[in-house]
Parts: sequence; structure tokens; C-alpha cells
Amino acid sequence: MGSITGSGVAAQLLAHYDGTARTLPWRAPPGANATDPYRVWLSEIMLQQTTVAAVIPYFQAFTTRWPTVDDLAGAEDGDVMAAWAGLGYYARARNLIACARVVSRDLGGIFPDTEEGLRALPGVGAYTAAAIAAIAFGRRAVVVDANVERVVSRLFAIATPLPAARPEIRAATDRITPDARSGDFAQAMMDLGSSLCSARNPICLPCPLRPDCSAAATGDAASFPVKAAKAAKPLRNGSAWWIERAGSLWLVRRPGKGMLGGMRALPGSDWSVERERELPFAGEWRWAGAPVRHVFSHFALDLHVARVVVAGDPPEFLGDEGQWWPINRLAEAGLPTLFARAVEVVEGE
Ligand code: ADE
Ligand code: SF4
Repeated sequence: MGSITGSGVAAQLLAHYDGTARTLPWRAPPGANATDPYRVWLSEIMLQQTTVAAVIPYFQAFTTRWPTVDDLAGAEDGDVMAAWAGLGYYARARNLIACARVVSRDLGGIFPDTEEGLRALPGVGAYTAAAIAAIAFGRRAVVVDANVERVVSRLFAIATPLPAARPEIRAATDRITPDARSGDFAQAMMDLGSSLCSARNPICLPCPLRPDCSAAATGDAASFPVKAAKAAKPLRNGSAWWIERAGSLWLVRRPGKGMLGGMRALPGSDWSVERERELPFAGEWRWAGAPVRHVFSHFALDLHVARVVVAGDPPEFLGDEGQWWPINRLAEAGLPTLFARAVEVVEGE
């Protein structure tokens, strides 16, 4: 094992990528230099915290329905949120709409072509700006996502635990990033991280980087990246209310900024650690047997679901901030996964 030179690792990896690159709907073939920045941006937003397999059908649906950033900018908020339903991390969808409108209305439909310009857009952080600059515009940029983090921490056998190791990993990635084809290089690292250099089971023998890889030389590549012990997620409780009347269900839209903000939902209580089950008005409520357990990034939730069928006038509680939705058309409501599961629980009772 010699010292790692940037050009050595990059050349090895790019040669491997030329033969093995995954074909993905937002990706240009290896060596091609032009990709539509709209498609690169959309894919990178969707791919944050989400797998390639989960993203592909959403990417295809979005680009079919809204082929350009101007089309997306002109869409109704509710239509975009409903099309995003099931992908999770819904703040991304709210930022997506805001970003499309900035690009379309303030920038003439043209995405900025520098990391700095891209970073100024809603929802575009350091990682995404670097990825778009490299992949869409061919600029040299240091692109570090979770896959790259894993590969690089292994290449250099970085012993510092995450997250403290991030600056070190970034500096190491900078050293091996080539001046040319940095978009292909970034995507080659991602492909390696999701194939041979997987989290649980790195397969070093056929890996093009093995001669340069310090972790492979230790014989225990899977022990990198070293991670600080995680605090357990707190468990919160909340109630969701299935309020049915004449074959329809009362649905609300969640407030803009909070969890699942802007998404359609069953009405319900706040979510808190202590909260017991809670009901909004008197009636013949029935609680579903088991709550829906849903894990968010910073907490887990037990959502307790109660059902009531209302005869006569709608209860005063409902106000006018919602709508009656036909139960046999709930699939079209664009409910996020949490509430789609709550619906399944009631329908399975
Ligand atoms: N994850 C994030 N961006 C990606 C890309 N461009 N290709 C594959 N996986 C990715
Ligand atoms: Fe990952 Fe093993 Fe390749 Fe090193 S040799 S980059 S640990 S797959």
C-alpha cells in the first residue's frame, strides 16, 4: 500500500465507473458533460436521506408532469405536496416549490452555475450545491454525502468518530477529487458506496481502490466509519381522529412549518412525550387496537387512531379548515406515509 495520490485513486475509480456506472434517469453516461441542471437539482433534493430505488418513480412522475423548472414553479402547492406524498422529509417539498419559483421568476429559469450561487437557493445546502456544480456544470467541487463519507473514512482508515470526523473526511475527499470529471467522480464514489463498499458488508477483493485502501489492509473495513454512540430517540405520543360522515372523511392540511407541514392529514392532537390519548368532542369513538409507530429523524411517534361516525350535522369542532374526502378515493388524497398507515389501521379493524 503506497501513499494515496489524488490522481491515482481518481483514475482507478473513473476507469471502474466507465465500465459499471448505474443507468439512472437523471444521470448522463460516463464522460458526457452536459446534464439538465433542473433534473440534477430535482434528483439531488429527492435523494437527500432517501434511496435511489425509492426516488426513481417519483423522479419520473415529477419530470413527466413538470418537465422544466418553469412548469414546476407554476404548479399549485397542494399538487406538488400530494405528488411528494410517501417520500418523507416534507420540508424538502416546500423548499422545492420555493426554489423553483426563485429560479423561474428571479433568475429567468436558469440555475446558478457556481456552488456559491446554488447555495443561496432555498433548500440547497453545502452538499447539494457541490453535487449540482459538479454533476450539472462540470465544476470541480468536493461532494460528500453519506456514501462518500463511508468510502473515504475507509480509504484513509479515519479513526475519529463521526460526526467529529467530518472536517477530516472533507479534507481527505478534497485531496482525491480530480479537476476534470468531478461530477463523474462524485457519482462513482456514491456508486461504490452503495455497491462494493456497503455499510455492513464491504467486498474489498474486487474493489478498484483496494490497493490504496487503508481499511481493507486492516482486514476489518466494516468497522469504518467509526461512529459515536447514538442517544436513543425520544418516544412521543399523539392521537389521530378518523371522523366519518356519509361515506366521507374529514381531512385537514397540516400547518406550513411543523412536521409534515403542508401535507394533507387526519386531524389530531399535538405530539408530545407525555400525552395520553385525546379526543376532540364527545361521541361513540373506538380506538384502533395498536398505535402506528413511525420513526422521524429526531423522535419516534406512537400515533393512536380513534374512529367515530357522525350522523346529522358536522360537529362544531371541525370549523372550515378542512374538507370532506370520499373514503373510497382516499388513495388520491396524497396522504404522507404516517397517515396512510393510520388509514390502513382503521380499514383493517
Ligand atoms: N445519491 C445522491 N446523489 C446521487 C447520484 N447523483 N447518484 C446516485 N446516488 C446519489
Ligand atoms: Fe471500501 Fe473495501 Fe474498496 Fe476500501 S477496498 S474502498 S473498504 S470496498
